[in-house]
Amino acid sequence: MSEPVSAKPVYNNKNPFPATHPVNIKLTGDASEKDTRHHEISLAGSGVIYEAGDALALKPTNDPELVELTLQALGCSGDETVKIKEVTKPLREALFRDYQIHFAEKKFVAKLAEKGVAKAAELLKPENDAALKEYLTGRNTVRDYVDLLREFPEAKFTPQEFCDTLRVLAIRLYSISSSLKAHTESVHLTVATVRYKAHGRLRRGLASTFLAERWSGDTTAGIFIQTQKHFRLPEDPNTPVIMVGPGTGVAPFRAYLEERQAIGAKGKNWLFFGEQRAAQDFFYREQFEGWLKDGALTRLDLAFSRDQAEKVYVQNRMREAGAEIWKWLQEGAYFFVCGDKNKMAADVHAELIAIAQTHGGKSAEEAKAFIEEGLMKTEKRYRRDVY
Ligand SMILES: Cc1cc2nc3c(=O)[nH]c(=O)nc-3n(C[C@H](O)[C@H](O)[C@H](O)COP(=O)(O)OP(=O)(O)OC[C@H]3O[C@@H](n4cnc5c(N)ncnc54)[C@H](O)[C@@H]3O)c2cc1C
Ligand SMILES: NC(=O)c1ccc[n+]([C@@H]2O[C@H](COP(=O)([O-])OP(=O)(O)OC[C@H]3O[C@@H](n4cnc5c(N)ncnc54)[C@H](OP(=O)(O)O)[C@@H]3O)[C@@H](O)[C@H]2O)c1
Repeated sequence: MSEPVSAKPVYNNKNPFPATHPVNIKLTGDASEKDTRHHEISLAGSGVIYEAGDALALKPTNDPELVELTLQALGCSGDETVKIKEVTKPLREALFRDYQIHFAEKKFVAKLAEKGVAKAAELLKPENDAALKEYLTGRNTVRDYVDLLREFPEAKFTPQEFCDTLRVLAIRLYSISSSLKAHTESVHLTVATVRYKAHGRLRRGLASTFLAERWSGDTTAGIFIQTQKHFRLPEDPNTPVIMVGPGTGVAPFRAYLEERQAIGAKGKNWLFFGEQRAAQDFFYREQFEGWLKDGALTRLDLAFSRDQAEKVYVQNRMREAGAEIWKWLQEGAYFFVCGDKNKMAADVHAELIAIAQTHGGKSAEEAKAFIEEGLMKTEKRYRRDVY
């Protein structure tokens, strides 16, 4: 009699897998304006499985330097205890692991107002909504608790009172940039490290700098897979795919290409990639050029925005190749977009509609309906993962 098959362990937000992070490589050059990195996270012993198109959820911890600064600003040693749900733990540990401390919350401003801080009360007036938003989250004027506690030293907080105003530390999602068929015991990410200055201090994006600076050696961090059925490759490996992924948006397409190569898929693959400068920011250049040479990648169109006087973006390359894109769509190609939600995805969407007009002979309305109703909703051949 055969042995019963044991169920695969299921990891989630409450029960993440404690993973290690053995590979952390800078992809961008020394003269780049960005610090974008290739990360490999070990899945050894986890039984974790994922599909190309899925995302990884990561539970980071805070920057210890910021924890110490926050303790100092509070006038605490860190050994004081606080209660989180039913668990009692030292304040230092709670600030390190449990709460978001790198952006101050409105709830804290309200507490300052309660304690008699006039400026806080003023900012909370409904007519000052925009000013409050700018005060807490403005570009390069963003404030954390160190800023506020230093600005209003007259307001004193007990450790528990302070913690009760904080937001719980949230997971971050990352598009997986590897195929499990090519790397059976690891998951790869492609992450732009968030760093900027505000009020004379360096500010660090929580998870991206955790990955870049603070997660190495035997240290473990919680991970789990966020299944993304809406962003899977077509089931038929013969189906052509067009992928538009500027910047870190290229991550899932590296996974797609690894996957399609691993299964010997015959479908054509066309990638649009863009970044600031070819010499500094052409991630995975060798891999993509290698795939182009051996046919795994049918076509690669590049848009390096800052290599010439006028900006060139992926949608400009799409326009130049409009007739061919239309031909691929007529052949049943899937169209994938990943990366910046605010500007890029909208511009690429508009260009796709323009292509249906110019090369499909459709009116503006017909082209919009063809892309938004037909391709996107009915046929589900237009898939996006934008953030
Ligand atoms: C499905 C999905 C997939 C994703 N895939 C990827 C991926 O493959 N690669 C990748 O790099 N990211 C990806 N992201 C984004 C990622 O989840 C994080 O949001 C990103 O890494 C930043 O997180 P952080 O914790 O480092 O920064 P946070 O601590 O969250 O800080 C980022 C915040 O800082 C603010 N900020 C940035 N600069 C400034 C400034 N100058 N002044 C004031 N505020 C500023 C921004 O508004 C932003 O809200 C993905 C997101 C989603 C939802
Ligand atoms: N939510 C978050 O916390 C968070 C954190 C990190 C990143 N992000 C988002 O993720 C995106 C990806 O960041 P990234 O560093 O990988 O790359 P990116 O900023 O998207 O840049 C990649 C390339 O896209 C170009 N680009 C700029 N605007 C464009 C547009 N409207 N249409 C097409 N291309 C455009 C850039 O050119 P130029 O730079 O020369 O204009 C660059 O060449 C960011 O745009 C950001 O919005 C979000």
